[in-house]
Amino acid sequence: MRALILVGGYGTRLRPLTLSRPKPLVEFANKPILLHQIEALVQTNVTEVILAVSYRAQQMEEELVHEAKKLGVRLIFSHEPEPLGTAGPLALAREYLCASDDPFFVLNSDIICEFPFKQLLEFHENHGKEGTIVVTKVEEPSKYGVVVYEEDGKIQNFVEKPQEFISNKINAGMYILNPSVLNRIELKPTSIEKEVFPNMAQDGELYALELPGFWMDVGQPKDFLTGMSMYLTSLRQKHPEQLHSGPGIVGNVLIDPTAIIGKDCRIGPNVTIGPGATLADGCCIKRSTILKAAVIKEHAWLDGCIVGWRSVVGRWVRMEGTTVLGEDVIVKDELYINGGQVLPHKSISTSVPEPQIIM
Ligand code: GDD
Ligand code: MG
Repeated sequence: MRALILVGGYGTRLRPLTLSRPKPLVEFANKPILLHQIEALVQTNVTEVILAVSYRAQQMEEELVHEAKKLGVRLIFSHEPEPLGTAGPLALAREYLCASDDPFFVLNSDIICEFPFKQLLEFHENHGKEGTIVVTKVEEPSKYGVVVYEEDGKIQNFVEKPQEFISNKINAGMYILNPSVLNRIELKPTSIEKEVFPNMAQDGELYALELPGFWMDVGQPKDFLTGMSMYLTSLRQKHPEQLHSGPGIVGNVLIDPTAIIGKDCRIGPNVTIGPGATLADGCCIKRSTILKAAVIKEHAWLDGCIVGWRSVVGRWVRMEGTTVLGEDVIVKDELYINGGQVLPHKSISTSVPEPQIIM
């Protein structure tokens, strides 16, 4: 089987991280978001993954080719000369998607959940129509594509980012489509959510499968951290051996074996620490992601933060309120940062008491 993953888009809502790496390569729980998806696809017998890329294609290729080999999956990079939206890339990859009559999976690249590809395929084959989308329930449906469907799953209505409340069931960003859907898409910038799904629903050709378990679009810092906590909770149930335990570890904590942890640290709940990161003595870290090779100095206190690659957080620093440090940022000793979004390669030497972007 084949799958196409939409890995274009500028990832502006995940800045400053996406100034250094394309969103799909940002490590979520110590692994690029995209790899979580590709691994799950491979487990469902997908042998060919088409990556629809519109920018930073080269970086994506360089970093993924090796991983793909390990997984035994063929990666095809489908380059868009201009961003084609969420449907145009399917038309561009037509020759691959129509190479057989099999249905194919389509995924947004910023979603995390227990991917239900097997159930999706089964359900899709059972109803026999052109497409099936996975749906989940959220509290703030206006940020998403909202779906209204009958008890058997038949979708009556699909409305992208509705202004008024219609339902709290939303498009989870995972689909299975028959090759015939390509007859509905032209090779030009097109939104699958606004231009393709509403028509398919009208024709009675689109079904919804409800997702069991957690789900999150991790394309913005706050949701990234919420998704990380959910993911760790699910890891606790499925693979508790991957989580860390020991003195000073509270709740669900994932630490790369190459990270160095000092004495008397208090880590957790809901923390991930990437490869080569260093925590000096007496640090306290909650609900945060520390990316590769970052350094947290003595007695720093972090809650609700993402610390970018190779950034350095000084002694006795206190950071909270969804603070995000880009790559290679330096926060001088004893500062207080609340909700700061700090661009790559900056050095901060005064406190940031209110949320703001620091350029
Ligand atoms: N190749 C390519 N080209 N990919 C693109 C382009 C493009 O021009 N524009 C966006 N993408 C990719 C993004 O990288 C992402 O993986 C996916 O398409 C969706 O774009 P987002 O920008 O993340 O959309 P969203 O989060 O506002 O809404 C989408 O996801 C929600 C679920 O998270 C929609 O599909 C909603 O209906 C859905 O509920
Ligand atoms: Mg998104």
